[in-house]
Amino acid sequence: MKRLVTGVLVAFILAMPVAAQETIKVGIVAPFSGPFADYGKQFEAGIKAYQKLHGDKAGGHPIEIVIRDTGGPSPEVAKRLATELAVRDKVDFLAGFGLTPEALAAADVATEAKKPMIIFNAATSVITTKSPYIARTSMTLPQISAPMGAWAAKNGVKRVYTLVADYGPGIDAESAFAKSFKAAGGEIVDSVRTPMRSPDFAPFVQRIKDSKPDGVFVFVPAGEQSIGFVKAFTERGLAQAGIKVIATGDVTDDHVLNAMGDGAIGMITSFHYSVAHDSPENKAFLKAYAEVAPNAGRANFMTVGAFDGMALIYDIVAKLNGKIDADRAMAIVKGWKTQSPRGPISIDPQTRDIVQTIYLRRVEKRNNELWNVEFDKFENVKDPGKQP
Ligand code: PHB
Repeated sequence: MKRLVTGVLVAFILAMPVAAQETIKVGIVAPFSGPFADYGKQFEAGIKAYQKLHGDKAGGHPIEIVIRDTGGPSPEVAKRLATELAVRDKVDFLAGFGLTPEALAAADVATEAKKPMIIFNAATSVITTKSPYIARTSMTLPQISAPMGAWAAKNGVKRVYTLVADYGPGIDAESAFAKSFKAAGGEIVDSVRTPMRSPDFAPFVQRIKDSKPDGVFVFVPAGEQSIGFVKAFTERGLAQAGIKVIATGDVTDDHVLNAMGDGAIGMITSFHYSVAHDSPENKAFLKAYAEVAPNAGRANFMTVGAFDGMALIYDIVAKLNGKIDADRAMAIVKGWKTQSPRGPISIDPQTRDIVQTIYLRRVEKRNNELWNVEFDKFENVKDPGKQP
């Protein structure tokens, strides 16, 4: 009898479903080839660094990453890939999005397919207003640029020429900088908007030199554009002419900073992340990054945007026990907080946009390498693009 009972019990236990932990799929849309290929690659490295530290399961649910390359900038391709991910691959989350035009094109997919969409970089203010299911773990250009306007006017940079890439984030940067700069007593000498792809910066930089401002405020998308600007600035001798660069940190992007050469030394930028940020969270992140992406060069703000985006996704998956519903996910997003490698961050419950510390940094050479060294900060900065 006893054996029979034991046998029945064993059979019963074996027949019990192993608490079905369904796999959660995260679809990543970004350029992994073409001129902005580094954006996708840094996202992927950030995801891997997160998984190195926190495992490939969230609340027991395996997390599967599905990568899609836009080859962009290409809004049409981004929209098609996001649609395919939602409808055919049945992903639980849309994520990634390095470039504003691609994020904007995919916003309707998030709404129609009811998928939480986590932006790892694209930084035009308006993006999060385009769907109730969008949240952002990177930054917005007004959030970065407004503190710089206030800082510059108070620190002797009174007459400024602005140069920005001629699309969403550039226009946001230009207007937020001008607003806070003028409010603090600064004067905008002139403004120019440059083509988003491969402009020759030399003629623009020459015109800036001729108008003899105290400084030039710059936003261009990180990568080949930032290298191009710094090259023209150095070759035309603007620093020697006493013209300071005050820019968003995209211009002295950690990933390509050493390729810019010593001409970048002394440039002052405002930004949310520097690899030189001194904190235990940043050390742990950079150690994991070095292990998962040993040949990828330096990490940067895109790597961290993806790393923190994964932290948010893991929390949602664990709290919803793998049953991802976009409305319930957004309830978790609103007010979410963590200690990021960049410092403390949270998501504004009103806007689903990030709230964070913005640092002032100066490019310095230490141990034969260039670094964005933080020297001042503005805490708890919300996106001013959405403040009344
Ligand atoms: C954007 O397209 O939103 C974007 C791209 C590169 C940056 C910042 C913003 O460095």
